[in-house]
Amino acid sequence: MRRLEGKVALITGGARGIGRAFAEAYAREGARVAVADIDGPAAEATAAALGGDHIGLRMDVTDQASIDAAVARVDDWGGGIDVLLNNAAVFDLAPIVEITRESYERVFAVNVAGTLFTLQAVARVMIARGRGGRIINMASQAGRRGEALVAVYCASKAAIISITQSAGLDLIKHRINVNGISPGVVDTPMWDEVDALFARYENKPIGQKKREVGAAVPYGRMGRPEDLTGMAVFLASDEADYIVAQTFNVDGGQWMS
Ligand SMILES: NC(=O)c1ccc[n+]([C@@H]2O[C@H](COP(=O)([O-])OP(=O)(O)OC[C@H]3O[C@@H](n4cnc5c(N)ncnc54)[C@H](O)[C@@H]3O)[C@@H](O)[C@H]2O)c1
Repeated sequence: MRRLEGKVALITGGARGIGRAFAEAYAREGARVAVADIDGPAAEATAAALGGDHIGLRMDVTDQASIDAAVARVDDWGGGIDVLLNNAAVFDLAPIVEITRESYERVFAVNVAGTLFTLQAVARVMIARGRGGRIINMASQAGRRGEALVAVYCASKAAIISITQSAGLDLIKHRINVNGISPGVVDTPMWDEVDALFARYENKPIGQKKREVGAAVPYGRMGRPEDLTGMAVFLASDEADYIVAQTFNVDGGQWMS
């Protein structure tokens, strides 16, 4: 028996990286998957590669009209949405004295407002259908503590842990379970961008920061997107019914909370 048989899942930022691995795992477990991403053609290509009854669509989580249109389309297509994986995010890094308003506004628009208002739009359709649901927000170890060069991204991920708690407490009366996943360091296209930024600010050759953070993980290597899929499937499954407002570390032992 597949664990997500018959469920409809919307995955934001699903075209690549961790979101793509989630889409593949959910499809394997029997879900019908809507892969949503600001890169529409990449979302369509990822959905097509899943092979089956899945769709890819463009969705910009910073744009309310785009959120509303995407959620309505997926709700129509699926006959409801059972699971939202709020995964889209962007990264930036700078010393405190060099942070720009533009960078702050972009990171908070995608990571915080994007997560909150996508959660809101999906919660509304879940409530209207009256059959509950699951919402899983992607946090980060960056949300557990500050980092000298990463103030804005860390704050955005701390906000996601907090929103997960508040939304979890508010929505469980509708049988909507809101929880989060907090990865450590995961080898994805985002980490190539992170590595390039550290190379600039810490004067390291490209690739060195990545090797250093991988070596520092207690497990002994960086995470891979597939390392996160077990928790994402579990939280969407019936087995997780009594789990509310939690954020789980899946990080090879990086952080304990
Ligand atoms: N890679 C890591 O080490 C790591 C660690 C902790 C947490 N995370 C979190 O995991 C999630 C996935 O990370 P990843 O490494 O796969 O990132 P990624 O950059 O490889 O993929 C993110 C996806 O989000 C999409 N996206 C960006 N802005 C968007 C927008 N406005 N609307 C819709 N889609 C948008 C991108 O096009 C991309 O496909 C993120 O929430 C990230 O913060 C990643």
